[in-house]
Amino acid sequence: MSLPKHVRLVEVGPRDGLQNEAQPISVADKVRLVDDLTEAGLAYIEVGSFVSPKWVPQMAGSADVFAGIHQRPGVTYAALAPNLRGFEDALAAGVKEVAVFAAASEAFSQRNINCSISDSLKRFEPIMEAARNHGVRVRGYVSCVLGCPYEGKVSAEQVAPVARALHDMGCYEVSLGDTIGTGTAGDTRRLFDVVSAQVPREQLAGHFHDTYGQALANVYASLLEGISVFDSSVAGLGGCPYAKGATGNIASEDVVYLLQGLGIETGIDLDRLIAAGRRISSVLGRDNGSRVARARSAQ
Ligand code: HMG
Ligand code: MG
Repeated sequence: MSLPKHVRLVEVGPRDGLQNEAQPISVADKVRLVDDLTEAGLAYIEVGSFVSPKWVPQMAGSADVFAGIHQRPGVTYAALAPNLRGFEDALAAGVKEVAVFAAASEAFSQRNINCSISDSLKRFEPIMEAARNHGVRVRGYVSCVLGCPYEGKVSAEQVAPVARALHDMGCYEVSLGDTIGTGTAGDTRRLFDVVSAQVPREQLAGHFHDTYGQALANVYASLLEGISVFDSSVAGLGGCPYAKGATGNIASEDVVYLLQGLGIETGIDLDRLIAAGRRISSVLGRDNGSRVARARSAQ
């Protein structure tokens, strides 16, 4: 299969990245991060989550973040919604696109959203209906597609029906998440091979955490499988509060560098993206998780 000419990056740093931070981050810093990412040319930014603040305290100010950001026409600013309450709060905050999230492993579903996989899918039905009524697009996530922190190995055959269910209920795209970053390129190729029998490849995305240093190889493996949408996080921010030890997503800067080398367009200005990553890393007092950004600052 030939490589795509254009790839869309879904920037999840402000959500997947920051949700795991224990220290308080001001609304102003979050707004600045989203605005920096807009300036860098990202076409899709996941800004926050409308989840229970008891479960994920860091996302509590998401409505204020939405109110503060400078939205550029043509850019999608999205939020996570785990239930109808979250969807309604997102709608009230002016959100035009939401994401629902299910898991391929029962144990992770329980720990992350306090219900079984099938109950979670039922919980999404009223969201889908409300979203249709309000013209809101819904993206779907499946977590733990290549491994679970509680159950270990997860097979592609476990992932496919969950991805299919999200697609059938109306998610226009389903992102497959290697939440704990244990997957390899071989696993990734098999995953997309199996799942694409249920959901068209053009409606699948890859979401790789870099815990085992495999994320960039997994992006390349996905490209070879005809996947052209990837979730990534500026400066490699993040982790998952319900997946102990999981590191951030693959760094957006590193994916852009890979894609540039393959002659694949993203519309992203790498220098501006690096600057955005440097700023948020310094706000958080963290080492920059992007290898490309670190190499550039050493030059
Ligand atoms: P629950 O405790 O079963 O829900 O949580 P509940 O309905 O019994 O409500 C409990 C309390 O939460 C109540 O408040 C509700 O009002 C409130 P109380 O009466 O105790 O004061 N509540 C809410 N508050 C604000 N917004 C809401 C909301 N819903 C209920 N939407 C629930 C169930 C789903 C709410 C909870 O488990 C939750 O919020 N989970 C979110 C977990 C999360 O955000 N995880 C991280 C995102 S997923 C991820 O990172 C993976 C991904 O990146 C892909 C990958 O890497 O694999 C996407
Ligand atoms: Mg994630």
